[in-house]
Amino acid sequence: MTASIEALFPTEIPAAYRIVPTSNPPISLIDGRVEVWQGEGVPVWSRVATSGPQGLEPQLLGHQAPLGETQATQAVEAAERAWDDGFGPWPRASVEERCAAVARFAARINENTERIAHLLMFEIGKPLSAARGEVTRSVEYIHATIEELRRLEAAATQPFTGLKGSTVHHAREARLPLGKVLCVAPFNYPVNELLTTVVPALLMGNVVLAKTPRFGVLANMVLAEAFAECFPAGAISLLPGNGRTVIPPLIGALGRGGRAAIDMLAFIGSERAANAILQQHPSPISLHKVLGLGSKNFAVLLPGADPEQVAARVVKGALGFNGQRCTAEKLFCVPQAEALAFAQALGTAVAELTIGMPWQDPTISPLPETEKLRWMQAYIDDACELGARIVNPGGGAGCFSLMRPAVLFPVDPRMRIFGEEQFGPLVPIAPYDSLEQVCRWQRESPFGQQVGIWGPAADMADAVRQLRPLVARVNLNDVCQRGPDSFGFTATDKSGFGVLSLGAALLTFSRPVLVQSTDPVLLERGLAGC
Ligand code: G3H
Repeated sequence: MTASIEALFPTEIPAAYRIVPTSNPPISLIDGRVEVWQGEGVPVWSRVATSGPQGLEPQLLGHQAPLGETQATQAVEAAERAWDDGFGPWPRASVEERCAAVARFAARINENTERIAHLLMFEIGKPLSAARGEVTRSVEYIHATIEELRRLEAAATQPFTGLKGSTVHHAREARLPLGKVLCVAPFNYPVNELLTTVVPALLMGNVVLAKTPRFGVLANMVLAEAFAECFPAGAISLLPGNGRTVIPPLIGALGRGGRAAIDMLAFIGSERAANAILQQHPSPISLHKVLGLGSKNFAVLLPGADPEQVAARVVKGALGFNGQRCTAEKLFCVPQAEALAFAQALGTAVAELTIGMPWQDPTISPLPETEKLRWMQAYIDDACELGARIVNPGGGAGCFSLMRPAVLFPVDPRMRIFGEEQFGPLVPIAPYDSLEQVCRWQRESPFGQQVGIWGPAADMADAVRQLRPLVARVNLNDVCQRGPDSFGFTATDKSGFGVLSLGAALLTFSRPVLVQSTDPVLLERGLAGC
């Protein structure tokens, strides 16, 4: 079985997709300048390997700049200057100037779609159409966010009134930036999830320090020139390197007047990493934050749900991009009486998934983390020792970075896979006795992002009533997902904090400021030129 997976790696990468390791020196973007790293760069290897006489060989893609404390400090100082207590050129730019700069930047991303998508294929193993989709979705997101900002701005020009006793007060409210924002994105959507925080933050007039994810650095570095061209010095810095080295001097920095330099953290990743970062901030009470953390979304089948239909719909929800999506279904809860039939149906659906190299556009593709197969095997071993089995033939077999997904059944709370986020190609199925039991599992779960409920329409309301208080989104006969991007993307505080979506993100990265007077003429005169 391992041999058959090994055979999926090519002897050479097809010419159309080959990435010649760039001899360009590694770069970063600090203070409006694309900085060339003077020392030795850190090699960026692809887990999309080729098979040769020595076995499977990872591909060298290029090098990244291992920034350290010095560069992080320079970036913070540049951000301080660019912010200038809210009087810097970017925070003082008009909404239309900001929209124009961001639209120019979106056009530059668009021009580079293929380059970025190809790098995503090799850096994180993302299948080609999903890699292209990540870029085009980001460009669409940017344009839609610009439109949202124009709507928000139009609303801000509308005066409104309030009564205090019998006195009428006239007011207008605007949204102002928060300051210097540190954005940290995950490796599974290294471009999209960086941009869905960086862009609304910039549009609202904040200055941004963006730490690139663990994988996807080269794809993000394609944006460095475009950032430098479209935004004033210091408004945006793009910082590669080891998070444990680069993030502490950013989050812990003191700025003007000895105040904490970073005003907001936008972080998508694990709770453990988020906590470690938050604890290093000099003044946690004054730090704004938006966090997307771990998740363990349940797909709950109600009695009467058609096992085959649900399996066919949900299989890519669980295993799209190898299950490495925060919104993936990570535990299936199925009534005892129907659990075996569902396990078999899902096993069949999983067996039909394509597996291969990213340019072949399979569902299952190489995993970027070197230890991933070992971690997945540990979950499998633990579950099987406690009575689960792999339902799909060949499930769990792997070689180097490729792994056939494993459907594990029956799973119960004693097993690690029941409660922990696998973030990989494992599909655990837990039979349940009553909906109350599923709710108890959800209440006891350390996560609370979304749930999918599958079954007859007549039985939905009871399940929604019981599960809705425990999550941030309930999907009815549909997979868990982030989109449409106009919907609020959030979680209960076990899985996240704050809202990211087209409109809500603009509010997240800004604060309201109100000007009022009992004299409406004075109000308008006072706001002239603002
Ligand atoms: O990893 C988390 C992503 O935001 C999920 O987005 O549901 O559109 O794949 P998606």
